[in-house]
Amino acid sequence: MDREDDFIANRSGNRPFGDVLQARASRRRVLVGSLGAAASGFLGPALSWGAEDAVGKPGVDEPQPLKKVGLINFRPVPLSEAGGAEVSISADYEYEVLIPWGDPLQPGGPVYDGDPATRPTAADQAEMIGIGHDGMWFFPYVHEGKESSNAGMLCVNHEFGRNNHVLGRGIPGSLEDVRLSQHAHGVSVVAIVRRDGSWRQIRSRNSRRIHVNTPVAFSGPAAGGGLLLTPSGSEPLGTVNNCANGHTPWGTYLTCEENFNGYFGATGGWTATPEQERYGFTSGGFGYGWEKFDRRFDLSDSDYTNEENRFGWVVEIDPWDARQTPVKRTALGRLKHEGAAVTVGDGGRAVVYMGDDQRFDYIYKFVSADDWQAMRARGVSPLDEGALYVARFNDDGTGDWLELTIDNPLLAARFADQAAVVTFARVAADLLGATPMDRPEWTTVAPNGDIYCSLTNNDERGRSGLPGPDAANPLAPNPNGHIIRWRDADAHIGTSFSWDIFLIAATTHDSEDAFGSPDGLWADPDGRLFIETDGPQPAGLNDQLLVADPATGELRRLLEGVISCEVTGITVTPDRRTLFCNLQHPGNGNSIATSFPAPFGSGKIPRDATLVIRRKDRGIVGS
Ligand code: FEO
Ligand code: CA
Ligand code: CA
Repeated sequence: MDREDDFIANRSGNRPFGDVLQARASRRRVLVGSLGAAASGFLGPALSWGAEDAVGKPGVDEPQPLKKVGLINFRPVPLSEAGGAEVSISADYEYEVLIPWGDPLQPGGPVYDGDPATRPTAADQAEMIGIGHDGMWFFPYVHEGKESSNAGMLCVNHEFGRNNHVLGRGIPGSLEDVRLSQHAHGVSVVAIVRRDGSWRQIRSRNSRRIHVNTPVAFSGPAAGGGLLLTPSGSEPLGTVNNCANGHTPWGTYLTCEENFNGYFGATGGWTATPEQERYGFTSGGFGYGWEKFDRRFDLSDSDYTNEENRFGWVVEIDPWDARQTPVKRTALGRLKHEGAAVTVGDGGRAVVYMGDDQRFDYIYKFVSADDWQAMRARGVSPLDEGALYVARFNDDGTGDWLELTIDNPLLAARFADQAAVVTFARVAADLLGATPMDRPEWTTVAPNGDIYCSLTNNDERGRSGLPGPDAANPLAPNPNGHIIRWRDADAHIGTSFSWDIFLIAATTHDSEDAFGSPDGLWADPDGRLFIETDGPQPAGLNDQLLVADPATGELRRLLEGVISCEVTGITVTPDRRTLFCNLQHPGNGNSIATSFPAPFGSGKIPRDATLVIRRKDRGIVGS
């Protein structure tokens, strides 16, 4: 989602550094120590596949060794193919479409195929793949200690779908309409297999839809406290605007709630509190109109005071147990969470890097209190106890992680307890002097320990009354974005870091590999950096997927999506012969622009979908 981040909620005026007139791109590469690939791979949870399939259990591929030439060898999609209603992919690759919006979650379930004359019922939508495919992760089926690259659970976020796309009308006319919209949001957990060369859903007791009305639980500092209770005593329900994702070393999925404010509105008199203002709540929201028929989303309904505090969290989902209640981990703070990149730091600590996607908002990290395995052995979630930090990027290439703790007198003067600190983490971060960034989107941890974060764009930087350029955000305005990179002290658990700017998107614009608005990021185990875009592209390009070699600076376009889509979400099978990515809001839902995945001109409404990408020679994806 790009333009819904358009307003500016941070009026704290944090400008810790003087204006810096020149970009500091790639002049500094101060990398300390060396790290192994601490985060690679799960520890093989004992899994129950749970799939009912007459063919039996899926096999496990033995990866074929590849002749290695360079890190990136594919033929890029040429600039001359820019634009259009169909997907363009490298001549060395092929793709197929999987689980578009409206596909049945379970084979034989209800289907919606994009017929513009109809829409699903709300009840049917709750059993279908949702819309707005975004972050996702593939959890391989494990058989006799081996991870399958042909079967597993795919967890897919459904970030958003406009009313015109989902309902076929701009404003909901009934509670049924609101429920349809709500059921199209959330997460799909879907069992998939590759058979006869093609991927498909398979019936499984593990598959489930999680949406805006699914019961959820809270844990961590804010759980059980008054800020998460409503006067009506209503039970906590649902997750919304599920943007990017993470996954834990213990085999769970993390879904991140981003622009949750936009789903609330006010039907009566209401004045925003300073905290509501900081999170961008308005009486009209983004125009979904849920508040007209669902009191939970009505900011002026005094029975539901605090309902809005129940959103903006990182939510943990067990992909192998459809009965598990999704848990909102409040220790990770309440932000407009983009994603949650988890790695293992010194002493076995679980470390989570997170962007808060708004103009002039911040980058955060969480460090668990102890070794994650020791904590789990004690029955404590590593995501419930630990320290939450926000980043300050100093202009000399160093940085500091500032802890959001009630033990800090600055925060104790403003908040009653740690529950309030994490619930209003943005306000706490303002007080600590964090660095306002150019819209932090995805983060990823490379095998050498470098952390990358997309700063997608910020055309407001430098505007009168708003922060000007600083060393970490050197362009004012910054319409095309950049990617920042840092290395933490003490193998991810330290409170200082060194940083540089990896890439300024505008510097690519005169070359074949032109791109803008970096968003999705994934560093593979060989060190390739996959970059997905969401926003204005140069040279008539649609949003795209590129692969970079940070060692050489090489950049190649692997795929260009259809017109007016976003390319987002990225995960691979264990053998890395299959990559999944998503096309979100193709054609912005307009069948005049594209009918993807149906043929152009068919008149079908375009539908968000997953693309399954493989090299034609079955080599490692990205190579
Ligand atoms: Fe959901 Fe910031 O992208
Ligand atoms: Ca974006
Ligand atoms: Ca994004």
